[in-house]
Amino acid sequence: MEIIHVSAECYPVAKAGGLGDVVGALPKYQCKAGHVAKVVMPMYRTKFLYDNEWTVDFKGSSNLGNWFFDYTIIKETTNKLGFDLYLVDINGLLDRHRIYGYDDDVERFTAFQIAVVNWMSSWEHKPRVLHCHDYHAGLLPFMMQHCYDYRKLASIPTVLTIHNAQYQGWMGWDQSKYIPRWDLWKRGMLDWNGNINPLASGIKCADKVTTVSHSYMDELRSNSNGLEKLFEYEKGKCVGILNGIDNEVWDPETDKYLDHHFSVATAKTGKQQNKELLCRRFGLDPSKPLFVFIGRLVGEKAADVLPDAIRVAIDHTQGQASFLVLGSGETQVEWQFQQMKEPYADVFNVVIGYDEALSHLMYAGADFLLMPSRVEPCGLNQMYAMRYGTVPIVRSTGGLQDTVTDMGDPGGFGIRFNHANIEDIDYSISRAVSVYQHPAHLDTMRKQMMEIDHSWESVVEAYLKLYRSLR
Ligand code: ADP
Ligand code: GLC
Repeated sequence: MEIIHVSAECYPVAKAGGLGDVVGALPKYQCKAGHVAKVVMPMYRTKFLYDNEWTVDFKGSSNLGNWFFDYTIIKETTNKLGFDLYLVDINGLLDRHRIYGYDDDVERFTAFQIAVVNWMSSWEHKPRVLHCHDYHAGLLPFMMQHCYDYRKLASIPTVLTIHNAQYQGWMGWDQSKYIPRWDLWKRGMLDWNGNINPLASGIKCADKVTTVSHSYMDELRSNSNGLEKLFEYEKGKCVGILNGIDNEVWDPETDKYLDHHFSVATAKTGKQQNKELLCRRFGLDPSKPLFVFIGRLVGEKAADVLPDAIRVAIDHTQGQASFLVLGSGETQVEWQFQQMKEPYADVFNVVIGYDEALSHLMYAGADFLLMPSRVEPCGLNQMYAMRYGTVPIVRSTGGLQDTVTDMGDPGGFGIRFNHANIEDIDYSISRAVSVYQHPAHLDTMRKQMMEIDHSWESVVEAYLKLYRSLR
């Protein structure tokens, strides 16, 4: 069957977080399973754009309210991703260096979606399903059903996958002029609490709604940034499907970012070699347990508590543990971490920024990964950590709860805690330090988690089953 994925991110083309990883992998494994999966995304000015070959697939024009624009769809020609990739170029609007964070993001992603439906309405065939990811593609089901110019697309079934319900893409009703000529009787399908809410509209209009873990699906009915009642009304069409990880990209035996590869059998020495490299680079002592955090420095990830929690843990462990942080986000948190660099130089370091290669080395070389997230729809970091033999220390929420068991439970291999506060994080770190003092126990846990199968192959079937159930 033919599946069209529409997304703001796709690894390795453009990635800000897990959305990119998922949209770079799910279509690839759908193609491997014998289907035709394609990805459509905005054309940003990323390295991938300049390093690859492209052909013009389509040129069209449309309008965003009173602003008329031309757009070009370019297609990647080498097929190195394992699926067809199409980029939507809207001059001056999408072709920027960052993915998000501009004042006109609402205009950018609305125009992107208009270009997508405009282009699709020129197609002679109909794909089996249009799979929308997050709010950046959330208006598509509405546009296909209720915008006069695009109703010929109404018979294409739609799925919306919610990777993160915190971000909904709100617009005031004064921006309704951006939505192409639409049936005014359908105002309720755009509105939520007095605003145009692209994520809510997607939930109402898509045929099926998925999210990226079972526990997060349940949590959304009690905690979803104002959409709780909507999730309750629509629960009949909502389903949780746990993400997979791309075992070809995330494989300690072949990882292109690592100098020292390792398997389950050689994990002990392999991890130590990576750890020594990492510690040398960041002035840390490789004989101490190494704790890392990789991610967006935002409240959702409880990054605001981490600087204090790490300071307390350094005191409590009397300098017997090291910490390395990689991330960027809220200025205040970045600043707090920067301030810790000098006074704690022998046990703490931080890299503010985004560094794909370093993240791989950290998963490989660390002993423990900290993930105190307040909200974690799925979380990929803990799954990467597990595949690289790094013990995840997670708050029991969303996908973290679905993928990590506590070492105190039968067959458990990780560390779980309940509150994103200093006490729980500090206590979990002290539990980890005790395990580190028992290398045989740590080894057993490592082996156990490295053998867990989170590959996409098994997840692809769940999506195919869902698509097949659509009208
Ligand atoms: P989220 O999508 O909410 O940020 P996930 O756990 O699903 O969280 O995925 C995060 C992805 O982004 C992982 O691939 C992680 O390694 C990567 N990542 C996050 N921050 C950074 C960073 N500063 N540098 C490199 N990779 C990062
Ligand atoms: C989001 C979520 C994260 C999830 C990722 C991929 O960014 O915050 O938990 O793993 O999407 O689905």
